[in-house]
Amino acid sequence: MRIEGSVALVTGGASGLGRGAAEALVARGGKVAILDLPTSDGAAVAESMGSAAVFVPADVRNTEQVAGAVAGAEEAHDKIDLLVNAAGVVTAHRVVTRGGELFPLDLFKFTIDVNLIGMFDVVRRVAAAMSRNEPNEGGERGAIVNVASIAAYEGQVGQAAYSASKGGIVGLTLPLARDLAGAGIRVNTIAPGIMDTPMLAGAPQELKDSLAQVHVFPRRLGTPADFAHLVIAVFENSMINGEVIRLDAGARMGPR
Ligand SMILES: NC(=O)c1ccc[n+]([C@@H]2O[C@H](COP(=O)([O-])OP(=O)(O)OC[C@H]3O[C@@H](n4cnc5c(N)ncnc54)[C@H](O)[C@@H]3O)[C@@H](O)[C@H]2O)c1
Repeated sequence: MRIEGSVALVTGGASGLGRGAAEALVARGGKVAILDLPTSDGAAVAESMGSAAVFVPADVRNTEQVAGAVAGAEEAHDKIDLLVNAAGVVTAHRVVTRGGELFPLDLFKFTIDVNLIGMFDVVRRVAAAMSRNEPNEGGERGAIVNVASIAAYEGQVGQAAYSASKGGIVGLTLPLARDLAGAGIRVNTIAPGIMDTPMLAGAPQELKDSLAQVHVFPRRLGTPADFAHLVIAVFENSMINGEVIRLDAGARMGPR
């Protein structure tokens, strides 16, 4: 599939990896709809990209808001060819702290609600929209790129909820690809290593440098541009389907 003339819905597009993907798609002649929290910078970020971008506010935990945002994206740009599901939250808590405090179940549910159930709601609604597209010469109607994490495989201390949410995304990649094959929609997942985004914004440079050391080569943090590059490759290459691709410079995380 070709970026030029295509339309992407990018969740989490107001910041970090999602924003990087949205900007790269617009730079290559695509149009984007940025789905992000009503309280996010989405409106300003979309405006900074000109008329090719619109903001469709939604909390992915609110199914009516998600439905409205997907409809808003179609209304603005007529169709959706690519979904990039980058909205997400990172949470951390020990299962039982040294002081005996239990992992709050509300925190566990919140993490799963945003990262897994919210993501799935966007997938099912966008898949329905994509199914109405005219297929291209290869029979393709669209592509979906979800965002997991290497924490799906090597979660750290405190990451039970986050890793479970990301492991869920890894697990549903192949069944989604199989479900949507008949409609000509491919589904893939990117599992990033440690990326320099606002998620890490508060971290001191020293910590960022030490985190980058888990990357085997190159020993730097990944960037939104690195992520965008892979999103575009996955969209353009029709043979990539049902796959989880690590974007982590060879990192394999230790226990902490
Ligand atoms: N930064 C990293 O090192 C890293 C590593 C692996 C995976 N990831 C994953 O990449 C994705 C993007 O992360 P990022 O680093 O760009 O973080 P980020 O915080 O810069 O961006 C996340 C975006 O998601 C939005 N969001 C959060 N909750 C939402 C909700 N309920 N509804 C709608 N939007 C919501 C936020 O407003 C924000 O704009 C996340 O899924 C994250 O788990 C990040």
